[in-house]
Amino acid sequence: MNLRSLSTAPRVGLALVRADLNVPLEQGQIRDDTRIRASLPTIEALRSRGSAVVVMSHLGRPKGKIEDGLSLGPVAQRLSELLKLDVRFAQGLPTSASAQAEVKRLQPGDVLLLDNLRFDPRETKDDPGLAAELARFGEIFVQDAFGAVHRAHASTHAITGILPSYAGLLVEREVQALDLLMNGTEQPFVLILGGAKIADKIGVIEHLAQQAQDVLIGGALGNTFLEARGVPIGRSLAESGELDVARGLMRRFQGRFHLPIDVVTTRAITEPGRAVNVEEVGSDEMIVDIGPATQAAYRDIVLGARRVFWNGPLGLYERAAFAEGTLAVANAVAECPGYTVVGGGDSAAALAASGLSDRVGHVSTGGGASLEFLEGRVLPGIEGLLES
Ligand code: ADP
Ligand code: 3PG
Ligand code: MG
Repeated sequence: MNLRSLSTAPRVGLALVRADLNVPLEQGQIRDDTRIRASLPTIEALRSRGSAVVVMSHLGRPKGKIEDGLSLGPVAQRLSELLKLDVRFAQGLPTSASAQAEVKRLQPGDVLLLDNLRFDPRETKDDPGLAAELARFGEIFVQDAFGAVHRAHASTHAITGILPSYAGLLVEREVQALDLLMNGTEQPFVLILGGAKIADKIGVIEHLAQQAQDVLIGGALGNTFLEARGVPIGRSLAESGELDVARGLMRRFQGRFHLPIDVVTTRAITEPGRAVNVEEVGSDEMIVDIGPATQAAYRDIVLGARRVFWNGPLGLYERAAFAEGTLAVANAVAECPGYTVVGGGDSAAALAASGLSDRVGHVSTGGGASLEFLEGRVLPGIEGLLES
């Protein structure tokens, strides 16, 4: 995919950057600043070209009105620390009169962060009016919000119809990595899919399973596939409305799907688990992880792979007792000598918690975005950046 690169952009006095600074907050504290760090190279590159930089982002999902708990204030502070610079911050509506005044005061090299774009109800409606107001904050638009390029919003999509638009360094890196994975020819190509929602993963399975030799399934997603195969899963988390979808996929890609052969079950998530053969799940039990035999089998397949994509934890990994399957897969992906890519907030967090992030080819900052990109579609936030 050929994107209009930032290096070909004219040097301008004022550049408008869409970043994805949607970080997890806990009582106003930033729990993980990965996305803020990932946005630094583009901001630095623009500053070193003498531009003043206006940065914009969403945070969480406020419903088109100001919510104090979802202000980007704490992000502005962290951005200041990381850039070693006093980042200006315009609190409230992103295109308010005071935001406009702040923009007017900017000097070369200054950075201003606008407040949460989703405080304005027009943002998620891809509203051209909001896009036009935002467009006054830059001579060029730089798309660096990889995690949000699957959204057709005013700041990710409509704006690209107004300002000359370029891919930021993060978007460029993400697109290169996912293109390399998706368009590679090396086999075996192995897909590992876990997590919770089958609806989010169907498109990827349909697109990638055609070329993947093995599709390793786990997590709550695995429960749905097991149930579809007629295995009693007790009180496990599963999507019983999606059994036909799961059956259809297994039929279409026969012989490629691997489901757990043993699992860890528990009666309550506060109680310890037990490993059992997959046919032996009690009616009052829940499957919360893949078992040791499945871990070993999946590990062997992953170690022999030349390309791997992993999305979604293999169990309820937030509880240490049920994290073993996810950790085993994380380790196997880290040890795999092939090209490895991990997408998804929870999978990336599990990898980071094990200190393995540096040992995979690429960790995407986008969850939904990486999945939708790998469906092979041109996403709304990317469309306007394509070299014609
Ligand atoms: P990602 O963020 O990596 O894309 P998802 O958001 O799809 O992953 O799913 C992550 C969630 O799935 C986690 O909260 C995890 O606890 C949950 N999960 C995985 N396996 C199970 C299971 N067997 N039972 C209940 N929850 C599970
Ligand atoms: C994400 O966290 O996946 C992105 O920031 C997009 O957020 P959204 O799902 O609320 O659009
Ligand atoms: Mg998640």
